[in-house]
Amino acid sequence: MRHFISLDQLTVEDMYGILESAEDFRLGHTPIQQQIFAGNLFFEPSTRTKMSFVVAQKKLGMETLDFHSNSSSVLKGESLYDTARTFEAIGANLLVVRHESDTWYEEINANINIPIINGGAGKAEHPTQCMLDLLTIYQEFGKIEGLNVAIAGDILHSRVAKSNAHALKRLGANVFFCAAPDFQDHTLEFPYITIDEATEMCDVVMLLRIQHERHDGVKVMNHYLEEYGLTKEREANMKPNAIIMHPAPINRGVEIDTDLVECERSRIFKQMENGVYVRMAIMTKLLHDWGIIHEDAVKKRDTISFKRISG
Ligand code: NCD
Repeated sequence: MRHFISLDQLTVEDMYGILESAEDFRLGHTPIQQQIFAGNLFFEPSTRTKMSFVVAQKKLGMETLDFHSNSSSVLKGESLYDTARTFEAIGANLLVVRHESDTWYEEINANINIPIINGGAGKAEHPTQCMLDLLTIYQEFGKIEGLNVAIAGDILHSRVAKSNAHALKRLGANVFFCAAPDFQDHTLEFPYITIDEATEMCDVVMLLRIQHERHDGVKVMNHYLEEYGLTKEREANMKPNAIIMHPAPINRGVEIDTDLVECERSRIFKQMENGVYVRMAIMTKLLHDWGIIHEDAVKKRDTISFKRISG
């Protein structure tokens, strides 16, 4: 794999390979005995994605090159391409990029000769978040095929919704959307159900924040929680083993009742922990594929085998 931009580039087998590798990393590993510089180019705010990349890099023994777009030459008009090219020139071995453009990678991926990982592209894709969500679901149910998964919230403006819906469908899950009319995206072929239906029939209820930063004006949504969110009453109707997920940041009391954020069904903090292992797996895969590190530069348990979809 050249760059990790979209899950569409990955076969189902590749996806399972990354999940197995992430699970191996969870069980322990040795760091890379080689100097590797990783540049984290975040042009949009980030807490979890950026920090879990940093933790993943440090666990692997890498040097992290921090970058703050608001104190960089971007303020002098430098483009994403020239910023990435600069990192490559000064010795970065790998880049993680998050940018508000849906297609930023088209500007840079052909001409940058180090691996690039998509840490979030506008409202289009968030493939590393998707991989950590898949790992969390697999850990819970021991499979993905046949599960009912509802993705609820601002589907139209969410990159997480798109990456997850497509990947879950490819892995055999039944994916449903729940959204207020203004937040529905009818270019995507997934059925819409109500949040009441979702909580009654789904194994996974994945909530999303309203993506105000991608709206034209601020939408004031009165009674959003009661109409579209996960209330305690709805949680009480969930199936016995059903789980609650959310990529975070969470707007407590808007898309989810604050008491549910850390309730027994919630896997929200588990998702964050899994983000570290998945990102270790993706970075080592790319470094191997490019020949930057040797096949056995990282020792991990390498014993985990996940059940594939049938058929
Ligand atoms: C998400 C994102 O940035 O798309 N957050 C994340 O990476 N964990 C979701 C969001 O911002 O609502």
